Amino acid sequence: MKVRICKAGAVPEGVMKSFDIEGTPVLVARVDGEFHAITDMCTHAMAYLSDGELLEGCRVKCPDHAAVFDLRTGEALELPATGPVAVVSLMTAAALEPIPEESGFTGFVRPGVGGMRFKTNLVASFLGFDLSEKKNDSLNDSPDSESTAIALIPFSVAYTFASTRTQVFLGTDIVNLIRFDYSQQLGVKQGIGSFGILQAGYLFSSIPAKVWKDPYLVNQNRSDTKRKSNGLRLTWDRIFNTQMQVQFTYRNIDISSEKSGDSLGFLTSNDRDRLKRDGDQYGLEVLYRFDITEKHRLTPAFTYTLDDRDGDAMSSDTYDIQLTYGYSGDPFTVIVNGFIGWADYDKKNPIYDKTQDDDRFGVNAQIYYTNPWGWTLLNSKPMQFYISAAYIDIDSNIDFYDQEAIFTTVGVGFRW
Ligand code: FES
Repeated sequence: MKVRICKAGAVPEGVMKSFDIEGTPVLVARVDGEFHAITDMCTHAMAYLSDGELLEGCRVKCPDHAAVFDLRTGEALELPATGPVAVVSLMTAAALEPIPEESGFTGFVRPGVGGMRFKTNLVASFLGFDLSEKKNDSLNDSPDSESTAIALIPFSVAYTFASTRTQVFLGTDIVNLIRFDYSQQLGVKQGIGSFGILQAGYLFSSIPAKVWKDPYLVNQNRSDTKRKSNGLRLTWDRIFNTQMQVQFTYRNIDISSEKSGDSLGFLTSNDRDRLKRDGDQYGLEVLYRFDITEKHRLTPAFTYTLDDRDGDAMSSDTYDIQLTYGYSGDPFTVIVNGFIGWADYDKKNPIYDKTQDDDRFGVNAQIYYTNPWGWTLLNSKPMQFYISAAYIDIDSNIDFYDQEAIFTTVGVGFRW
């Protein structure tokens, strides 16, 4: 059953309040920016716990005989109470990480290892691992697949100035991780009352990626070159206290040594210009979060990307429809995300004498398990184990541009 208890702002940091939910008193407390809810009734002799004291370590002390309960688990930690209170599941409306109510550092680190399998003619390597064959024997076939192991350490560190509701941060946005976006961001987040939360960040790729100087060279070893991508991202979340978010992303793509088509003698210099991959990319995304029940959430999103490359045959309009399902339970949290879309390219490709268009499809699932032993690292919240898998398929009308990727990772996550 889903019940709206209160607006997030009704329970400030370090405060607990009692709400009557269809005849049941529920205590809601906010500790370190996170909400916790338990039944507001001591299991010893029925005192209201909300009349008691909020203690350090996410605990509450009963006003009558000083029993102590854990707000996260409901467990009775100190006598005379022995039975636990019930924990009430809460879902908050935030998609951007909420801004903590207290000044100080927060963050996460989520090291993981796994494997990936790629089919691409466009990307040479990622993180130093080869993703496509140096030597290609045909311009008309789909790429062969390459497999490799990977190790990733996504992290984020933030400092909050509570008095002005401002936060500066560096790292990977956890929401973007869920959606295949591994870029790093240095930015600032500002809460503006009922207007919502504004975030502005400088985007840069911390993961080294290389592409082929001339992807169309056949029967000889291709040489690689760096691909850099920098830009900015503006996000407006919880627009006028709704569950809507709009995000604009700009990226500049720079290929250090662009030689596309140089090996193909039948191309004119104008033709080669049409294959250039340097350029700008503009993306606009709109999403809305629906809380289906207290534990289940659906988030549809629509993304439009304008790829404005120096080469018209490489420029495109891309449309993606995305749906994210979230289950928030204890000890499991599950997130499943899928997208389907298409890309229309601007001009005829001079090698194939036709205009490229792609069908796009992807799914991604992540399962988090909060360890039952309460293990922590340097005063972190209880550690989580996670497993994640993703599949992305780009099916082009020109086989050479087909792409496929499969990622799987397992790891542990710590939050402060
Ligand atoms: S009523 Fe809570 S400890 Fe007695």
